[in-house]
Amino acid sequence: MKPKVYVTRRLPEIAWHELIKSCQVDVWDHETSPAPYQEIKTRIHDKEGLLCLLTDRIDAELIDSAPELKVISQCAVGYDNIDIKAANERGILIGNTPGVLTDATADLTFALLLAGARRLGEAIDYVKAGKWQTWGLTILLGREVHGRTLGIIGLGRIGTALAKRARGFDMRVLYYDITRHPRKEIDLGIEYKEFDELLIESDFVSLHVNLTNETRGMINKQAFEHMKQTAILINTSRGSVIDSEALYQALLTKQIAYACLDVTDPEPLPPDHPILELPNLIIVPHIASATIESRNKMALMAVKNLIAGLYGDPLPNPILAT
Ligand code: DGY
Repeated sequence: MKPKVYVTRRLPEIAWHELIKSCQVDVWDHETSPAPYQEIKTRIHDKEGLLCLLTDRIDAELIDSAPELKVISQCAVGYDNIDIKAANERGILIGNTPGVLTDATADLTFALLLAGARRLGEAIDYVKAGKWQTWGLTILLGREVHGRTLGIIGLGRIGTALAKRARGFDMRVLYYDITRHPRKEIDLGIEYKEFDELLIESDFVSLHVNLTNETRGMINKQAFEHMKQTAILINTSRGSVIDSEALYQALLTKQIAYACLDVTDPEPLPPDHPILELPNLIIVPHIASATIESRNKMALMAVKNLIAGLYGDPLPNPILAT
């Protein structure tokens, strides 16, 4: 008998075909709407495997409603939506999908950096609104990127890939992390700074930390006070790393110049959220890993983690007990 699994969203075909070879699959077969919490809870009561997304809240109550559950396979690198402690206590294996989305995420981060520096959102709106009447010396002036300072908070895989891109644009790169990375400092020509120093010195600040109790709200009112008035803040990590109210105030009062966000808090933002009225902001809908190549690889990796755990093999990418 193939093990029974629940999948909380439609998968790319390549991953779906792999999954149905080894499992009996029940799926929330939608692309753009998340499986409701109650739906997941009801569906997993007799399942041994769960393949979920970052939009699903996998808490202790939900885990307890699935007595047969052996493996939770997250189709994302971040896993702040899963109660890891509760899963560990029940002896459930957990996997995620690191590595395969690193370059796609770093590319989108750099695209946001450039879009903020050169005011691409406003420029596109300007043309579409029929305002383009002539070439002008003072129209839509942005800021140069080369020679300017990028501060990277969190020098993991994605932060490192961003540093490489920035060095290719002749930027000075600073980083802050809970651990120093002397080898990368030499290899990439980047400098370690304390958190506050990095905020003070950077023209661009880009966030690449996991969401944890320590990083939640780390970019708060005090952090904005340290940043330059010309600074551009980029976030492709998790929305809650930034204190939303402090961000709104910092943009409204022009304490910083611009924010470019792939992630928000809440996510998605309600269409009438006041921050959407601000001109000095670009928001895209959590698409940093949204390339065909990355999403296929993520889904396949999630399927492989799931199957390995269900058939008693080590997960290729386990999230280890904390
Ligand atoms: C992840 O994998 O955690 C990303 O946020 C998805 O793009």
